[in-house]
Amino acid sequence: MLLYSGTSNISLAKKIASSLNQELGNLEIHIFPDGERRVRVEDNVVDRDVVVIQTTSPKPELNYFELFFIADALKRSGAKSVTAVVAYLGYQRQDHVFRSGEAVSMDVIIKNLESLGIDKVITFDLHSIKIPELFKIPVVHLSALPIFAEEIKKITNNKFDEAVLVSPDMGGIRRIEMLSDMLGGISSSSIIKNRDLKSGNIESAEINGEVKQVAFVVDDMISTGRTIIAGANLLKEKGTEEVYVFATHPVFSFEDKGIFDEDIIKRVFVTDTIEIDIKKKFEKLEVLSIANLIAEELKKQ
Ligand code: R5P
Repeated sequence: MLLYSGTSNISLAKKIASSLNQELGNLEIHIFPDGERRVRVEDNVVDRDVVVIQTTSPKPELNYFELFFIADALKRSGAKSVTAVVAYLGYQRQDHVFRSGEAVSMDVIIKNLESLGIDKVITFDLHSIKIPELFKIPVVHLSALPIFAEEIKKITNNKFDEAVLVSPDMGGIRRIEMLSDMLGGISSSSIIKNRDLKSGNIESAEINGEVKQVAFVVDDMISTGRTIIAGANLLKEKGTEEVYVFATHPVFSFEDKGIFDEDIIKRVFVTDTIEIDIKKKFEKLEVLSIANLIAEELKKQ
């Protein structure tokens, strides 16, 4: 198996390669002054199984196009199979028509991946468990929840009486239930939020379930941070004293990282599915690596 990386998350690709005791393959990615890319595979890949590691945030269009060009170069050069490790699968939130007249962005991306001859996709914590069904090629849907479970055990010292897992929206309830199972049945609650589909603003929120002293709020991603902050404030209003945030994908599209300064928020755990710009990092942030989980999956190929 040969490993290649796009330019979006080279540190993750290096960690995966090192877990597999391998070097990354040689790929020339030339960026023209206007931003266009020229991709060339420098190794002999004839009849080889190859893996391309490329995440798609920030700059989803650019990173997807780069992935498409790498896959095309590998296929044209004779690769036997191409597996795309897309730890954060951009455009997944638009996986169906919410309001008539909309494009299904996820479907457009999938058509491109498939028409390029990509054989398999490995990805993490999809917004909806139904997304793999939209593909005709196999999709391996991995999760960072086992890594989060270990952190929660450390924080609580395995004592869960005063702790509750909280989903910041209805869509995350299944995720919370899975995490609760991993932690031996720790109790869980969910925030019911109503969002205006046009503006994205959260209009109202309520808690369904228990409120305890310590809350572990678990989400698939943090983008503007509005969901997490609204959830933390609601929990505080209801009597929670400490909130620990866990989110797989640090999309981090907020301008002001000061939103996480709120006292109630003790720490924010994310993973390295997306490389975080240094300007977006803050003191309470901890980045956990998914590299070993991907390496383990690739060993099965
Ligand atoms: C929404 O349904 C997702 O699960 C996340 O809660 C959401 O995308 C987070 O976005 P933001 O940080 O902008 O509130």
